[in-house]
Amino acid sequence: MSVLPRVNKLITDPVYQNYLQKIAEAEKERLYCKHGLDHGLAVARIAYAYLLEQGGTVPAKEVIYAAALLHDIGRWAEYTSGEDHARAGAALARPLLEKSGFDPREIRMIAQAIAEHSTHSAENLSVLGRALALADDWARDCLQCKVKDSCHKFTEQMNQIVY
Ligand SMILES: [Fe+2]
Ligand SMILES: [Fe+2]
Repeated sequence: MSVLPRVNKLITDPVYQNYLQKIAEAEKERLYCKHGLDHGLAVARIAYAYLLEQGGTVPAKEVIYAAALLHDIGRWAEYTSGEDHARAGAALARPLLEKSGFDPREIRMIAQAIAEHSTHSAENLSVLGRALALADDWARDCLQCKVKDSCHKFTEQMNQIVY
Protein backbone atom coordinates (compact mmCIF):
# COMPACT_ATOMS: atom_id res chain seq x y z
CA MET A 1 0.00 0.00 0.00
CA SER A 2 1.23 3.44 -0.68
CA VAL A 3 -0.51 6.58 0.45
CA LEU A 4 -0.33 9.46 -2.00
CA PRO A 5 -0.47 12.62 0.15
CA ARG A 6 -0.36 15.17 -2.67
CA VAL A 7 -3.00 13.29 -4.65
CA ASN A 8 -5.24 13.15 -1.58
CA LYS A 9 -4.74 16.87 -1.10
CA LEU A 10 -5.69 17.43 -4.73
CA ILE A 11 -8.94 15.46 -4.67
CA THR A 12 -10.11 17.09 -1.46
CA ASP A 13 -9.47 20.59 -2.79
CA PRO A 14 -12.85 22.41 -2.90
CA VAL A 15 -12.02 23.78 -6.36
CA TYR A 16 -11.42 20.26 -7.70
CA GLN A 17 -14.64 19.06 -6.08
CA ASN A 18 -16.52 21.99 -7.57
CA TYR A 19 -15.31 21.07 -11.06
CA LEU A 20 -16.48 17.48 -10.52
CA GLN A 21 -19.83 18.79 -9.34
CA LYS A 22 -20.23 20.95 -12.45
CA ILE A 23 -19.37 17.99 -14.68
CA ALA A 24 -21.87 15.75 -12.85
CA GLU A 25 -24.61 18.36 -13.30
CA ALA A 26 -23.85 18.83 -17.00
CA GLU A 27 -23.82 15.05 -17.56
CA LYS A 28 -27.01 14.23 -15.66
CA GLU A 29 -28.88 13.29 -18.84
CA ARG A 30 -25.85 11.98 -20.72
CA LEU A 31 -26.28 8.48 -22.18
CA TYR A 32 -22.61 7.97 -22.93
CA CYS A 33 -19.77 7.52 -20.44
CA LYS A 34 -19.54 10.11 -17.71
CA HIS A 35 -16.45 11.79 -16.31
CA GLY A 36 -16.62 11.53 -12.54
CA LEU A 37 -14.02 10.62 -9.95
CA ASP A 38 -14.56 6.92 -10.72
CA HIS A 39 -13.42 7.45 -14.30
CA GLY A 40 -10.32 9.38 -13.22
CA LEU A 41 -9.43 6.68 -10.72
CA ALA A 42 -9.89 3.90 -13.26
CA VAL A 43 -7.62 5.72 -15.70
CA ALA A 44 -5.05 6.26 -12.92
CA ARG A 45 -4.88 2.57 -12.04
CA ILE A 46 -4.71 1.42 -15.63
CA ALA A 47 -2.13 4.02 -16.66
CA TYR A 48 0.01 3.07 -13.67
CA ALA A 49 -0.14 -0.66 -14.46
CA TYR A 50 0.57 0.05 -18.12
CA LEU A 51 3.57 2.27 -17.38
CA LEU A 52 5.04 -0.24 -14.92
CA GLU A 53 4.62 -3.00 -17.49
CA GLN A 54 6.29 -0.89 -20.18
CA GLY A 55 9.32 -0.45 -17.94
CA GLY A 56 11.95 2.19 -18.57
CA THR A 57 11.68 5.48 -16.74
CA VAL A 58 8.24 5.49 -15.14
CA PRO A 59 6.90 8.80 -13.83
CA ALA A 60 6.30 8.92 -10.07
CA LYS A 61 3.06 7.22 -8.96
CA GLU A 62 1.71 10.53 -7.61
CA VAL A 63 2.36 12.20 -10.96
CA ILE A 64 0.51 9.44 -12.84
CA TYR A 65 -2.46 9.52 -10.45
CA ALA A 66 -2.67 13.33 -10.44
CA ALA A 67 -2.60 13.45 -14.24
CA ALA A 68 -5.33 10.81 -14.53
CA LEU A 69 -7.56 12.33 -11.86
CA LEU A 70 -7.31 15.69 -13.59
CA HIS A 71 -7.39 14.62 -17.23
CA ASP A 72 -11.10 15.36 -17.81
CA ILE A 73 -11.43 18.25 -15.37
CA GLY A 74 -11.95 20.62 -18.32
CA ARG A 75 -15.18 18.84 -19.36
CA TRP A 76 -17.43 21.42 -17.74
CA ALA A 77 -15.60 24.20 -19.64
CA GLU A 78 -16.23 22.31 -22.88
CA TYR A 79 -19.93 21.95 -22.04
CA THR A 80 -20.14 25.64 -21.16
CA SER A 81 -18.07 27.34 -23.85
CA GLY A 82 -17.25 24.69 -26.44
CA GLU A 83 -13.55 24.98 -25.61
CA ASP A 84 -11.58 21.73 -26.04
CA HIS A 85 -11.65 19.93 -22.67
CA ALA A 86 -8.08 18.67 -22.87
CA ARG A 87 -6.68 22.16 -23.39
CA ALA A 88 -8.98 23.71 -20.81
CA GLY A 89 -8.12 20.94 -18.36
CA ALA A 90 -4.38 21.50 -18.68
CA ALA A 91 -4.83 25.16 -17.72
CA LEU A 92 -7.23 24.41 -14.85
CA ALA A 93 -4.89 21.73 -13.50
CA ARG A 94 -1.86 23.99 -12.99
CA PRO A 95 -3.01 26.02 -9.96
CA LEU A 96 -4.53 22.92 -8.35
CA LEU A 97 -1.27 21.02 -8.72
CA GLU A 98 0.69 23.92 -7.33
CA LYS A 99 -1.57 24.09 -4.27
CA SER A 100 -1.20 20.34 -3.75
CA GLY A 101 2.59 20.57 -3.63
CA PHE A 102 3.71 19.37 -7.07
CA ASP A 103 6.90 21.00 -8.34
CA PRO A 104 7.17 23.00 -11.58
CA ARG A 105 8.72 20.11 -13.53
CA GLU A 106 5.97 17.73 -12.44
CA ILE A 107 3.30 20.34 -13.23
CA ARG A 108 4.67 20.80 -16.73
CA MET A 109 4.67 17.03 -17.32
CA ILE A 110 1.13 16.60 -16.04
CA ALA A 111 -0.29 19.61 -17.90
CA GLN A 112 1.27 18.40 -21.14
CA ALA A 113 -0.17 14.90 -20.68
CA ILE A 114 -3.65 16.29 -19.98
CA ALA A 115 -3.46 18.47 -23.10
CA GLU A 116 -2.40 15.42 -25.13
CA HIS A 117 -4.83 12.81 -23.79
CA SER A 118 -7.49 13.21 -26.46
CA THR A 119 -5.14 13.34 -29.45
CA HIS A 120 -5.20 9.82 -30.73
CA SER A 121 -2.36 10.07 -33.16
CA ALA A 122 -0.24 8.32 -30.48
CA GLU A 123 2.92 9.53 -32.17
CA ASN A 124 4.81 12.45 -30.69
CA LEU A 125 2.98 12.12 -27.41
CA SER A 126 4.83 12.25 -24.12
CA VAL A 127 5.10 8.96 -22.22
CA LEU A 128 2.47 10.12 -19.74
CA GLY A 129 0.19 11.57 -22.43
CA ARG A 130 0.19 8.29 -24.32
CA ALA A 131 -0.51 6.32 -21.14
CA LEU A 132 -3.50 8.55 -20.39
CA ALA A 133 -4.85 8.26 -23.94
CA LEU A 134 -4.64 4.45 -23.87
CA ALA A 135 -5.92 4.06 -20.31
CA ASP A 136 -8.83 6.37 -21.14
CA ASP A 137 -10.12 3.84 -23.69
CA TRP A 138 -9.27 0.75 -21.63
CA ALA A 139 -11.15 2.18 -18.66
CA ARG A 140 -14.48 1.97 -20.46
CA ASP A 141 -16.83 -0.96 -20.12
CA CYS A 142 -18.02 -1.09 -23.72
CA LEU A 143 -19.07 -4.75 -23.77
CA GLN A 144 -22.37 -4.16 -22.00
CA CYS A 145 -22.91 -0.63 -23.26
CA LYS A 146 -26.31 -0.02 -24.87
CA VAL A 147 -25.27 3.06 -26.82
CA LYS A 148 -21.93 1.93 -28.22
CA ASP A 149 -23.29 1.79 -31.79
CA SER A 150 -23.66 5.55 -31.80
CA CYS A 151 -20.59 6.34 -29.64
CA HIS A 152 -17.88 8.25 -31.49
CA LYS A 153 -15.20 6.70 -29.29
CA PHE A 154 -16.20 3.08 -29.77
CA THR A 155 -14.04 0.71 -31.82
CA GLU A 156 -14.30 -3.11 -31.94
CA GLN A 157 -11.07 -3.25 -29.99
CA MET A 158 -12.87 -1.67 -27.07
CA ASN A 159 -14.94 -4.86 -26.68
CA GLN A 160 -11.77 -6.48 -25.37
CA ILE A 161 -10.50 -6.50 -21.84
CA VAL A 162 -6.98 -5.11 -21.96
CA TYR A 163 -6.07 -4.22 -18.37
FE1 LIG B 1 -11.07 13.29 -22.16
FE1 LIG C 1 -11.39 10.34 -19.97
